[in-house]
Amino acid sequence: MTQRLLVYVPPHPLIKHWLGVVRDVATPSVLFRSAITELGRWLTYEAARDWLPTQDTTVQTPLAACPATFVDPQVPVAVVPILRAGLGLLEGAQTLLPLASIYHLGLVRNEETLEPSCYLNKLPEKFDPQTRVLITDPMLATGGSIMTAMAELTHRGVDPALTRIICVVAAPPALQKLSAEYPGLTVYAATIDETVNDRGFIVPGLGDAGDRIFGT
Ligand code: PRP
Repeated sequence: MTQRLLVYVPPHPLIKHWLGVVRDVATPSVLFRSAITELGRWLTYEAARDWLPTQDTTVQTPLAACPATFVDPQVPVAVVPILRAGLGLLEGAQTLLPLASIYHLGLVRNEETLEPSCYLNKLPEKFDPQTRVLITDPMLATGGSIMTAMAELTHRGVDPALTRIICVVAAPPALQKLSAEYPGLTVYAATIDETVNDRGFIVPGLGDAGDRIFGT
């Protein structure tokens, strides 16, 4: 079977609601932050469906023995927030995945060339090949940052088929690059927007997510 990049836009009313809030230019920083946290929570909930490994066992209820399914504690789970803006989605993700290890990756785009550079890399030298990896970054625009992140991860043994990206707004250039290089990867986005302008901003997008989260 040919593998393809999977991109899901979950048709969830709460995802739509919080997307509307973060798009609105009138939303103040404090509300923007909590809306991004909510999106992190709901997108992680959706992404975990067929991704988080479980194991079947039995438990004894007060009345009888019955089958039970638990999250498998043996399989490592990692969350990789792309700084800065990916930190906004981290809290919601961490709430749902309390046992996950968090590996920060700091990437910033040059405002003229739009090329990303790495200023912080807390990734381990090698990942267990079974590790489930969740990348958080609200914006996939030209795709430079997410492609850099994926290259850093796959060089360290991460399997793209076991990787999920959660983002708020994805744009075609980033999705095309991911599709060409990483078939088998899965992206969960609150929406897919049409274009990236010549300054590297997604249109209509939501502006600069990092600046709006941190008020800088
Ligand atoms: C933004 C955004 C993504 C990246 C997307 O980060 O949060 O990481 O740009 O753009 P790309 O797909 O064209 O690479 P930015 O570099 O502005 O840094 P920040 O998160 O610190 O604001």
